[in-house]
Amino acid sequence: MIKLGVNIDHIATLRQARRTFEPDPVTAASLAVLGGADIITVHLREDRRHIQDRDVRLLRETVFTKLNLEMSVAEEIVGIAIQTKPEQVALVPEKREEITTEGGLDVVSQKRVLDNVVKRLTDTGIAVSLFIDPEKGQIKAAKEVGAQFIELHTGNYANAKDADSRVKLTEKLKHGVTIARDLGLRANAGHGLTYQNVGFIVESLDVEELHIGHSIVSRSVFVGIQKAVQEMKDLIFRHSVAKHSSG
Ligand code: PXP
Repeated sequence: MIKLGVNIDHIATLRQARRTFEPDPVTAASLAVLGGADIITVHLREDRRHIQDRDVRLLRETVFTKLNLEMSVAEEIVGIAIQTKPEQVALVPEKREEITTEGGLDVVSQKRVLDNVVKRLTDTGIAVSLFIDPEKGQIKAAKEVGAQFIELHTGNYANAKDADSRVKLTEKLKHGVTIARDLGLRANAGHGLTYQNVGFIVESLDVEELHIGHSIVSRSVFVGIQKAVQEMKDLIFRHSVAKHSSG
């Protein structure tokens, strides 16, 4: 079954609104794992707008499933990743003004820096995933810089205005997964996925992991994070069963 990575950044966003100690993303991670999260993801941003260094340290000590650290290629953050040794790093583009990650990494134009960063992380025993758009050139470049995984950006699919464009964008993602597989890359997907739109992705894409944050944390405000994660896991399970029984 597709694994679920739960991004808990926005638990920390709420804490940082008051710069206090609650709600604690470390507690949220434990409850998310109880709810069935296979992976815990946090994005240590250069401006520390939500996740703090202390969170990453404590999560490393307490997450025994899989810790996925989202990050830019900034030297300071690369140093923290090498010290912390999460099981996986997802490299993403990062702009200070953005509300969330906008678009995938441009691997083609940043090959030199990515070559260097991917090698240093891989040499430390960290699996490296590159968050990219489903473009052939970017996928090939991801392979060339030595990434083990790509995470295909599902944001455009999530924002599609009608069923027609949703289908077209899903075909593009599907094609991206095939290209990745043919090159020997492992494929994940994420961004903008919700309880409403995840089903079609599960039924259409053969990926290993889905990475979901905002929608799960939003639901957790009303039902608690353990239940919110359980509900997403159930959805992924039901759509996986439907896919395998129809195909
Ligand atoms: N994957 C990546 C690489 C991301 O940057 C994010 C957002 O932090 C997500 C997945 C999760 O996106 P969302 O919060 O829209 O579910």
